[in-house]
Amino acid sequence: MMRFRLSPVSGSGFFMLFLLLGAVQAYPLKLNLTDLKNATCLYAKWDMDFQITYETTNHTYKTITISDPSSVTYDGSSCGDDHNGAKIMVQFGSAISWTLNFTKEVSHYFIDTISLSYNTSDSTTFPGAAAKGIVPVTHSVRFELSFDVIFRCNSLFNFSQESVVENYWDIHLQAFVQNGTVSKKEYVCEEDTTEAPVIHTTMSSPTTTFTPTSKPTPTPTVGNYSVTNGNTTCLLATMGLQLNITEKVPFIFNINPTTTNFTGSCHPETAQLRLNNSQIKHLDFIFAVKNENRFYLKEVNISMYLTNGSVFSVANDNLSFWDAPLGSSYLCNKEQVVSVSKTFQINTFNLKVQPFNVTEGKYSTAEECAADSDLNFLIPVAVGVALGFLIIAVFISYMIGRRKSRTGYQSV
Ligand SMILES: *[C@@H]1O[C@H](CO)[C@@H](O)[C@H](O)[C@H]1NC(C)=O
Ligand SMILES: *[C@@H]1O[C@H](CO)[C@@H](O)[C@H](O)[C@H]1NC(C)=O
Ligand SMILES: *[C@@H]1O[C@H](CO)[C@@H](O)[C@H](O)[C@H]1NC(C)=O
Ligand SMILES: *[C@@H]1O[C@H](CO)[C@@H](O)[C@H](O)[C@H]1NC(C)=O
Ligand SMILES: *[C@@H]1O[C@H](CO)[C@@H](O)[C@H](O)[C@H]1NC(C)=O
Ligand SMILES: *[C@@H]1O[C@H](CO)[C@@H](O)[C@H](O)[C@H]1NC(C)=O
Ligand SMILES: *[C@@H]1O[C@H](CO)[C@@H](O)[C@H](O)[C@H]1NC(C)=O
Ligand SMILES: *[C@@H]1O[C@H](CO)[C@@H](O)[C@H](O)[C@H]1NC(C)=O
Ligand SMILES: *[C@@H]1O[C@H](CO)[C@@H](O)[C@H](O)[C@H]1NC(C)=O
Ligand SMILES: *[C@@H]1O[C@H](CO)[C@@H](O)[C@H](O)[C@H]1NC(C)=O
Repeated sequence: MMRFRLSPVSGSGFFMLFLLLGAVQAYPLKLNLTDLKNATCLYAKWDMDFQITYETTNHTYKTITISDPSSVTYDGSSCGDDHNGAKIMVQFGSAISWTLNFTKEVSHYFIDTISLSYNTSDSTTFPGAAAKGIVPVTHSVRFELSFDVIFRCNSLFNFSQESVVENYWDIHLQAFVQNGTVSKKEYVCEEDTTEAPVIHTTMSSPTTTFTPTSKPTPTPTVGNYSVTNGNTTCLLATMGLQLNITEKVPFIFNINPTTTNFTGSCHPETAQLRLNNSQIKHLDFIFAVKNENRFYLKEVNISMYLTNGSVFSVANDNLSFWDAPLGSSYLCNKEQVVSVSKTFQINTFNLKVQPFNVTEGKYSTAEECAADSDLNFLIPVAVGVALGFLIIAVFISYMIGRRKSRTGYQSV
């Protein structure tokens, strides 16, 4: 069984590579199916191409790329209903057919299975093919979506087997569209939001089997967040945030500051920073004052969509992190973990935060976390040790030098 998340590659980067090779164009699929009342019931738009490798009668291998828009039909595509699944069917000439089907359940639906089949008996598409017949290739996707969202993914999905490579990117997809209106609410795939690294080393050889490599999670981009009260800044936060959800499957999510909104509020005894984006409904950091002279992170609330479309929510108002005196900021450059619940933790990177007493929109002097000061303590020690060794080395070479010059004099 294939998972839908498979070696994502930035779509545009990948396309650029193909332009450089001068080999392939994509087939831009666009399908807007309507029901009997002319209301849209299925909307699909993406780019795709396939490379099929086959053996010829003189025992060589040939690879063809299918992206020919001139002879494409969508016969058999249907919107489905409560009893029948929806289907997108595409015929590339007479030799290749492609189907994606959807299964409907009460509260959600699945992008179910991708099936491609090609007919090597067709000598125009597969000239000189040694074996003649129909070759089917299927991938079970089982990707769950709710009815009120449109799935969007710019990143590349590729499926590959020995003889067939399938690429899909720039996907917009909504099946079982309700009330004839394609949703404005997007469900953005994880690959688009986690800034996955671009890997396209194996692209030039279509016969290579792509295996998903376990890549180390990249560290998140540091974002600048602030809250204003009237027209003065009252809360400042600079941090890279990585969410770690460990329900049935571990899920690491880096917050991309450029696509994340922030708001909040400031009061004398509490302050709140709220982040949200297309995947995170809200992520709240609530700060409080204790003993009248210190602040700390007291509460974290999160509600976000997971890859399967379900909503993950956790709240904990009994935390104690990022503790510093009022009138200063809290600084921690090293990675720190804010453990919110058994299933949810936040890894912070290059953190600086000041939820109270911000003056002129600038951070006050920082109280640095213990982890950082360990490092700062080690640096002078290391420098001292190195200097000590240097002095000893200079001294020894001086002594040796003196000896040599003395013996030199004696021999003359
Ligand atoms: C799909 O087609 C319907 C009817 O032709 C049209 O009203 C609608 O705007 C189209 N939707 C999109 C997203 O193109
Ligand atoms: C649907 O649209 C077609 C042309 O776009 C039109 O001929 C037909 O009458 C419409 N049907 C309904 C039920 O509106
Ligand atoms: C989708 O297609 C696969 C493979 O062709 C098939 O096994 C499955 O039953 C289909 N599901 C639906 C809902 O049609
Ligand atoms: C495969 O292609 C051959 C030659 O074009 C054709 O005769 C045959 O009917 C095709 N098979 C199927 C199942 O479409
Ligand atoms: C579709 O319309 C029905 C009734 O008009 C309404 O109850 C439902 O919320 C609508 N669904 C969406 C997704 O807009
Ligand atoms: C703050 O806003 C008020 C009204 O919106 C305005 O009168 C005042 O000049 C502003 N102060 C500063 C420092 O911009
Ligand atoms: C995520 O959390 C789990 C359980 O707490 C932990 O084992 C894992 O190392 C964490 N991963 C990262 C990248 O922080
Ligand atoms: C979605 O995934 C989460 C975490 O793996 C799980 O707890 C939840 O039950 C799943 N939701 C559905 C509807 O399958
Ligand atoms: C956080 O979530 C809890 C439980 O859902 C709720 O009681 C609390 O009011 C929330 N706090 C904020 C500041 O929204
Ligand atoms: C809050 O946390 C403290 C220590 O972390 C613990 O002693 C206390 O029982 C917790 N309170 C609640 C209501 O969970």
